[in-house]
Amino acid sequence: MRSIFTILLSITVLASCSLNRQPATGNRQLSSNQQPVWNLTYPGTYRAIIGESAAFNLLSVANREPRAEAIKALGDAPVPINLNEIKAEVVNGRTCLQFPLDREEQIYGFGLNFKTIAQRGRIFRLHVDHYGGEDNGRTHAPVPFFVSSKGYGVLVNAARYIDVSVGSGVRKDSKNPPVTRDRNTDKAWDAQPYSDNIGMVIPEAGVEIILFTGRNMMEVVQRFNLYCGGGIIPPKWGLGFWQRTPTLYAEKEVREEAAGFERNNFPLDVVGLEPGWHSHSYPCSFEWDQNRFPQPASFIGEMGSKGIHLNLWMNPYLVPGGTLDVRMKDLTGSHTVWCGTVADYTLPEARKIMQDHFVKNQLDIGASGFKMDEVDGFDSWLWPDGATFPSGRDGEQMRQTYGLQMMTLTDEIFRQKNERTYGLIRAANAGSVSFPYVIYNDYYSHKDFITALINSGFSGLLWTPEVRASGSSEEWVRRMQTVCFSPMAMINAWADGTKPWSFPDVYKASQDVAFLRMQLLPYLYSTFAQYYFEGKPPFRAMELVDGFPASGEIKNQYMVGDNLLVAPFFTGETERTVILPPGEWFDFYSGKPAGSGTISIKAVLDKIPLFVRDGGMIPMIPAVRQTSDWSRETPVEVRVYGTKEGQFNLYNDDGKTFDFEKGDYSIQQLSTRANINSTIQTGKSSLGYSRIFWTLMSR
Ligand code: GAL
Repeated sequence: MRSIFTILLSITVLASCSLNRQPATGNRQLSSNQQPVWNLTYPGTYRAIIGESAAFNLLSVANREPRAEAIKALGDAPVPINLNEIKAEVVNGRTCLQFPLDREEQIYGFGLNFKTIAQRGRIFRLHVDHYGGEDNGRTHAPVPFFVSSKGYGVLVNAARYIDVSVGSGVRKDSKNPPVTRDRNTDKAWDAQPYSDNIGMVIPEAGVEIILFTGRNMMEVVQRFNLYCGGGIIPPKWGLGFWQRTPTLYAEKEVREEAAGFERNNFPLDVVGLEPGWHSHSYPCSFEWDQNRFPQPASFIGEMGSKGIHLNLWMNPYLVPGGTLDVRMKDLTGSHTVWCGTVADYTLPEARKIMQDHFVKNQLDIGASGFKMDEVDGFDSWLWPDGATFPSGRDGEQMRQTYGLQMMTLTDEIFRQKNERTYGLIRAANAGSVSFPYVIYNDYYSHKDFITALINSGFSGLLWTPEVRASGSSEEWVRRMQTVCFSPMAMINAWADGTKPWSFPDVYKASQDVAFLRMQLLPYLYSTFAQYYFEGKPPFRAMELVDGFPASGEIKNQYMVGDNLLVAPFFTGETERTVILPPGEWFDFYSGKPAGSGTISIKAVLDKIPLFVRDGGMIPMIPAVRQTSDWSRETPVEVRVYGTKEGQFNLYNDDGKTFDFEKGDYSIQQLSTRANINSTIQTGKSSLGYSRIFWTLMSR
C-alpha cells in the first residue's frame, strides 16, 4: 500500500512541447498535457503517474518493497519547490518531463559517472553500457535518479533509454529567461545561456515518477534508498581481502596462490575464479572444467577449511548445445552474444532453470557468490535494440535491466539457503541498492575510479576501484590504499597475475593498509548497517555531509561512514588540500588536531590520509588476517577523537545469514556523553562485543 494521502494539485495548462503544432511532415503530433498528480505515499515521498506508465519498469524488475518503517522513522521534510512547476507531457508516444532549476541549485546523481559529480549543464542519454571515457549517460549504472541541493530528488522509474538535459535548453515561456546578447559586441555572450529547467524524455507514453524530500541531500538519498528496499549488509567475509586469480589457473595454482597469501602474511578471505573454471567460456557452459577442477566440491571444501570463500566469474551467455541452452530452448532471445544464447530471465521458467543449475552445481558444493560480467555492453558485443525476447520485452528493456535480472536471480537462491552473498556485477540500475553486488569495469583510470566511488553513493550503488597492474610502485600503493577504503578490497589479477607483493619495495605499505582495513571491520560493518537500517550510503560524497557547501564538486576526498574522511593521494602528487566539513578534525593515525576549513597536507607514501571528526569514534579490532578470526569475543578498541561528546552505534550479527532481518542482531550504543559508556540498546546481547576498550586519541 503505497498511498496514504492524496494531494491534488490544480491543473495548469501547459504551453510546453508543442500542442497543436504542425510538424514539417504535415502529420499532426499527438500530445497530451499531464500535470502530475502527486500522492504522498510515505512521509517525504510522493508518487505521480503520467499517462500510461509501463508495468515493466526498473522497480518491478528489482521487485523489492519499500522499507516503510524506516522511511517513516525519518519523519517528514517539506517539499522545497512548487510542485506545480514540475510539468509533464506525452507527445508522440514519448513522455517529456520538466523540473525547475534555480540559479544557485546544483544537481547530483544520474548513476555511475566517472569524470563529473555536479551534473548541472550536462546532457545524458541514460543507457546501460561499458563506460567509454565520457560522462554522456552510457555507463554501467545510468540510474535515472537525481538529487538537488535544494533538498529533493526524483526517480524516473522507466526501463528505457532516457534523455536528460540538466540546465540546458531554454524555454520560450521561461520565467527566468537568460539575457539576449550580441556575440559581435558582447564578451559575456554565452553559447550555453542560463536555463532554468531539467528536461527528461522517456520513450514511452507515460511513466511513474517518485519525488523524495529531505532536510538535506543525505536525507533525500536515504529516502530513495529505503524506498528501493534499503541498503545491504555484506557477509563479514565479503569485507575481507579479495584476490582474483588468472583466467586459466587450475586447482593447484589457486591453492598455491592462497598459500602465498598465508606465507606472506597478507589478508585473504575470498578467491575469485575467472573464466577458466567453466569448461567453455564466452559463451559459458556453467559446468566445471574437468581438467582444471576435477573435484570442485572437495576443492571448495578444502579452501573453506582455510577460511577462504570462492567467487565465480561468469557472463550469462549460454554455450549453444550445452545443458542450459537446450533446456532454455524456447526461453532465449532472437540474438546471440559471442554465439551464446541469451535467456529471458523475466520469465519464471528461465529463472528456475538457471537457479536450479546454480544451486546444484555451484551453491550446494559451497561456492559463495558470483561475478556477473558483460551484462552492460558494448553495443558491438551485445544484442541490438531490435532484438526480441519470448516474454515480449524488447532489446532496450532487456539492456537496461539485464544486470538487475541477474542480481535478483542469484540473490533469491542465496536467500533460500539463508546464506548472504557478496559479489560483482558490471551493470546495475535503480533498485540495485538492496542487492549485494559491487560494480567494477575495465576502464582503470585511478582518479576516475575514485570519482565513480564518490558518485556511487548518490544512486544506491557500490563501486570498487579494483587493483590490476600498475606502472610503478607508487601507483600500486596508491591504488591499494584506495581499494582498501572502498566497498570491496580486491586485486583483479585475471590478466596479469599481480599479487600484493608484486612491487616488493612497497609491500609493507600494501600490507599495512590491507591490515588497517581488517582492523576497521567493526566500523565498516556498522557503517553498512546504517545503509540497511537508515539508507545512508557507506561511501559518500562530501556534498552529502551536513553543512558542507554543495556548490562545486569534490573528486578527491570522500567519507566512509559518519566519522572517517579519506583524502587519497594519486601518483605523482606530493601535496594537496583537504576541505574539512564544519568543526575541528583530527588525524586518524596520531589523534592530533588536523585543523578546520581547508588544510594543506604533504604526501607520505606509506599512508593514506584519514581524518576523524571531533567526537568521532572508530571501533577497531586487532589486525586479523581473515574475518573468520573476528568474533564477538575479539577485543574492540574504540578510538575516541577530539573532545566533543559523541555517539556511535556498534552493530553486530552472525555475519553470514539473513537472521538479522528478523531482528537477530545487536546494536551497542557507544557514547561519550556524561562519561564513556557502552550499552546494548537494541537486539540480542549475546551478539554484542564482550570486550570493549577505549583509547582517547586526542586527550
Ligand atoms: C572482463 C572483466 C575482467 C575479467 C575478464 C575475464 O570482461 O571486466 O574483470 O573478468 O573479463 O575474461
